[in-house]
Amino acid sequence: MAEALCNLPQTNNPNLLIGFNKADDAGVYKISDDLALVQTVDFFPPIVDDPYYFGKIAAANALSDIYAMGATPLTALNIVGFPSSKMPNSILGEILRGGTEIIKQAGAVVVGGHSIQDDELKYGVSVTGKIHPDKIISNSNAKPGNKIYLTKSLGTGLITTGIKNKIVSKELEKIVTEQMALLNKDAAEIMIRHNAPSATDITGFGLLGHAYEMAAGSNVTIKIYSEKLPLLPDVLELAEKKMIPGGAIANREFMENRWKTEGKLDINMERLLFDPQTSGGLFIAISEENSDSFENDCKKNNISAFLIGEVLPADDVPIIIV
Ligand code: CO
Ligand code: CO
Repeated sequence: MAEALCNLPQTNNPNLLIGFNKADDAGVYKISDDLALVQTVDFFPPIVDDPYYFGKIAAANALSDIYAMGATPLTALNIVGFPSSKMPNSILGEILRGGTEIIKQAGAVVVGGHSIQDDELKYGVSVTGKIHPDKIISNSNAKPGNKIYLTKSLGTGLITTGIKNKIVSKELEKIVTEQMALLNKDAAEIMIRHNAPSATDITGFGLLGHAYEMAAGSNVTIKIYSEKLPLLPDVLELAEKKMIPGGAIANREFMENRWKTEGKLDINMERLLFDPQTSGGLFIAISEENSDSFENDCKKNNISAFLIGEVLPADDVPIIIV
């Protein structure tokens, strides 16, 4: 995507506060001195078999980019590609029911959408949110000394690949499905309360790809403690069984010469670092002085926030794994 976009002419509209040249989570357009629109879109083929849960996951995933900017979602448009010759319409009904439920949970409203005939089922959402122009939490403002937190466990790509290969238990399928359907809303509210200088969400580029975008955009190096990473159950075993989704290979190639490891890194843990996530957690930078109150607030509100790293002055590579 970034490659295709870089050939487009740059837009020089002063109201475009964050455009596609920034590799941020969503675009931001200023309407007035105290109001800006935050816009994003995402859609994909089914990641789980249950259409109702697929709808929930796709909506939670799309809304996540709004939360990663520190914004409030307002409206949503459904995007559907549907093979109506191969599938009953009731499946589409279930997908939209799941999506609408999550959009409602986010406090936003579905204002419409568009569907086309497609050989392969696809669903997603375009979301518009609002934010005060001075309150934007970009992914390019992390400062040396900041602590790095992650709010969901890693391994959704490995597990969903395992599900497709029928080697994952129903119990684990339920755990990963519920995590992916979980909104990043509460975690975002807490990071806003504690003045997070920078944040992004972990999705298709995997932990390292999104950490890299923050490090490169902020002109810092991010150190990640591999032993502190929160993992979904059985993911290292699934990595050992090579349940590696296609996107992981591209993620690894992209990161070549952009990261290094200090010490010994288990091969399966390394695979996990590149695992593309669906509806992953927020990756949040918090100033050292606010980190205790941030952690306490998360605990009080039952939000998991794992301390997984720290921000350093720019080193020879943007990402260091220890
Ligand atoms: Co994002
Ligand atoms: Co996105």
